[in-house]
Amino acid sequence: MTKIYNDLYQFTNYIEPINLSLHQYLLLSAEPALIHTGTIQQAEKLVPQIKELLGDKKLKYIFVSHFEADECGGLFLLVSEFPGVTTICSEVTARQLFGFGIMHNILIKKPGDKLSGKDYNFEFIGYPSEVHLWEGLLLRETNRNIFFSSDLMFQMGKYHAEVIERSWEDAVANCGIEFIPNKEMQDKLLNNLKSINPKFVATGHGVCIKL
Ligand SMILES: [Fe+2]
Ligand SMILES: [Fe+2]
Repeated sequence: MTKIYNDLYQFTNYIEPINLSLHQYLLLSAEPALIHTGTIQQAEKLVPQIKELLGDKKLKYIFVSHFEADECGGLFLLVSEFPGVTTICSEVTARQLFGFGIMHNILIKKPGDKLSGKDYNFEFIGYPSEVHLWEGLLLRETNRNIFFSSDLMFQMGKYHAEVIERSWEDAVANCGIEFIPNKEMQDKLLNNLKSINPKFVATGHGVCIKL
């Protein structure tokens, strides 16, 4: 676990057989939010670390970009460890969670929606996600100007708390949009990305980006 930017902490587990690092983040604001749960195995390791960082604070949100093991595999465990926590996800992701019996406090957000609290301001961007181009979400926190890129700006390899500097234009040009096999969806997402100008990209996999 490493404090990577302002009050943002990064956690990583490295999956050797597929040479991939999975990152989760805790935004330790006045109302803390966890971004992605990791797999169930990762979540077991996350719980004590999150509890230590939280101290007297309560985990308010868990943001799930889309329905995949690294983004929400540990959700069931985390909601039992942090009673009262609210999961933020898209309508499609919520349907998947319901199908797996995960029916605690779920806050459905649509692309373009916002959510503000004491010292954070979330904005949600539509994200056509695996497996069937289901509509997921990307998260932007505009007070600190952090963009959580999920599986965009993806990189294979073993990385933890590594940050490179590059321009936003360059980051968008190399964001891996080609993995979304639908031109219309690609264009929409690219337009949304071009309209923001983050200071920090917290990636789901690989190095983070400082702009
Ligand atoms: Fe994913
Ligand atoms: Fe991922």
